[in-house]
Amino acid sequence: MATGLVRRAISRVQSTVSPAAKLVIARAHASEAQAQQVEPTAKSSSNIKTFQIYRWSPDNPQKPELKNYEIDLKDCGPMVLDALIKIKNEIDSTLTFRRSCREGICGSCAMNIDGCNGLACLTKIPSGPESTITPLPHMFVIKDLVVDMTNFYNQYKSIEPWLKRKNPPPTPGKEIPQSKNDRAKLDGMYECILCACCSTSCPSYWWNPETYLGPAALLHANRWIMDSRDEFTKERLDAVNHEFKLYRCHTILNCARACPKGLNPGKQIQNIKKLELLGN
Ligand code: SF4
Ligand code: SF4
Ligand code: FES
Repeated sequence: MATGLVRRAISRVQSTVSPAAKLVIARAHASEAQAQQVEPTAKSSSNIKTFQIYRWSPDNPQKPELKNYEIDLKDCGPMVLDALIKIKNEIDSTLTFRRSCREGICGSCAMNIDGCNGLACLTKIPSGPESTITPLPHMFVIKDLVVDMTNFYNQYKSIEPWLKRKNPPPTPGKEIPQSKNDRAKLDGMYECILCACCSTSCPSYWWNPETYLGPAALLHANRWIMDSRDEFTKERLDAVNHEFKLYRCHTILNCARACPKGLNPGKQIQNIKKLELLGN
């Protein structure tokens, strides 16, 4: 009776709450379901899965290895990050990985899961008895699943990702207005969380990481090129109009496949090339 009331109350508020609150509610549902299944749980068997995880430490600079960890999925959250946290908390505290928000916002838990780049917090634990987790490909490893993002961030910085003006704002001390249509031109770009899943899945970036800017930085270059409030469009286009910085993109579109936010950096790169072709 009491749980029925709780369930009805939850379903009444579910349509009006934020995604974060919905997660809490979903967990409440899960706890309720667990509470009602005391007897079956006692009878059910465990569901063991093996995670092969890339391990390397500068403190012990021998060859890297894939280390096996077995965990019971019946006693673990649904996402790859849940499994990693469980391993770190219960089996091996030396396992090192980045994470922060746990909801696909900070971009820090990017890694390669069974051959595909993705965010550990947004990727469900794959079915099957084994999964392999390695760092983002073609990046220098600092430790275990943590890679060096210095080059990636420097490339982002190189496109000058901030509003640049030649004239003062129309109303001093106020925002610069933008029409709804102009604002909509930034859709598909402003959502980027700089996780690097795209750049590290791009073969051209693998071969030319120092000279090709890569899909993430170029997506952001286009984000500022397309911003109606920015007054350095021509300079921005000139800055990336370079055989290596821009034209190493061969429209393979691995980047779009890898992006956990559903963005298409390859399409944004095409837009820059089109503008270059039209003479800005
Ligand atoms: S479309 Fe361009 S940026 Fe994207 S994966 Fe292919 S070469 Fe790389
Ligand atoms: S475009 Fe997508 S994959 Fe690339 S950095 Fe941004 S969010 Fe990550
Ligand atoms: S922990 Fe922030 S995106 Fe995964």
